[in-house]
Amino acid sequence: MFALEATELYRFFHAGDEEVVALRGVVLTLNTGEFTALRGPSGSGKSTLLACLAGIDEPDGGVVSVMGERMTRRPEPERARLRARHFGVLMQSGNLFDHLTVRANVRLQMEISGRGAPGEIDGLLGSLGLDGLAGVFPVHLSGGEAARAGLAVALAAKPSILLCDEPTAEVDAATEQLVIDRLIGNCRSGGAVLIVTHSPALAARADRIIDIRDGGIVHG
Ligand SMILES: Nc1ncnc2c1ncn2[C@@H]1O[C@H](COP(=O)(O)OP(=O)(O)OP(=O)(O)O)[C@@H](O)[C@H]1O
Ligand SMILES: [Mg+2]
Repeated sequence: MFALEATELYRFFHAGDEEVVALRGVVLTLNTGEFTALRGPSGSGKSTLLACLAGIDEPDGGVVSVMGERMTRRPEPERARLRARHFGVLMQSGNLFDHLTVRANVRLQMEISGRGAPGEIDGLLGSLGLDGLAGVFPVHLSGGEAARAGLAVALAAKPSILLCDEPTAEVDAATEQLVIDRLIGNCRSGGAVLIVTHSPALAARADRIIDIRDGGIVHG
């Protein structure tokens, strides 16, 4: 069984009279224990694909199944239940609640998913180079710190499927290696990981690279 399976995903957006085909027939599977990198130019559909895979957005055509269970075209509460049970998700923005500290954001994710323990939070933040930032509110984080705090939230519940949109976009090379090691650690402990990235360092460590152009997979 695949951890995640997407068949023929389509997503259309309308801007005035114009129709944008953000996804055109994307077929994709993610396997447990595998680290997959997703690359593509700006506007090629990477974030749209991630949102559809996570059930945050609904594709206009096609089906996403997670651990053998269909997620597409089910009521939002059921998608949210599947997301809490199986997924850790880092989107390009909006991953943190501004009125909660970093620690409280991570703890909330543990409560929602019913997994992870508050005693693990400092170790998790430390493994991402965020020592000393547990008590800080998101508004005081740099872009790179906010992305890693969002990643801590995504990792908090030890998800079986981890989807991340450019987790190392604004970090230095040494910190990027920390993040990559943490992502790979998630695979080795039985997760499936899909990372959107422009980083050659990150792609070089992937088990598999998928390229997307104009909403369609060109390698995979
Ligand atoms: N909510 C929306 N409404 C209208 N058009 C959208 C919407 N979301 C995405 N699009 C369009 O769909 C296409 C794919 O966008 P998407 O954000 O998935 O690209 P991306 O590969 O993530 O780009 P980037 O690397 O810049 O983050 C683009 O043409 C974009 O303008
Ligand atoms: Mg994007």
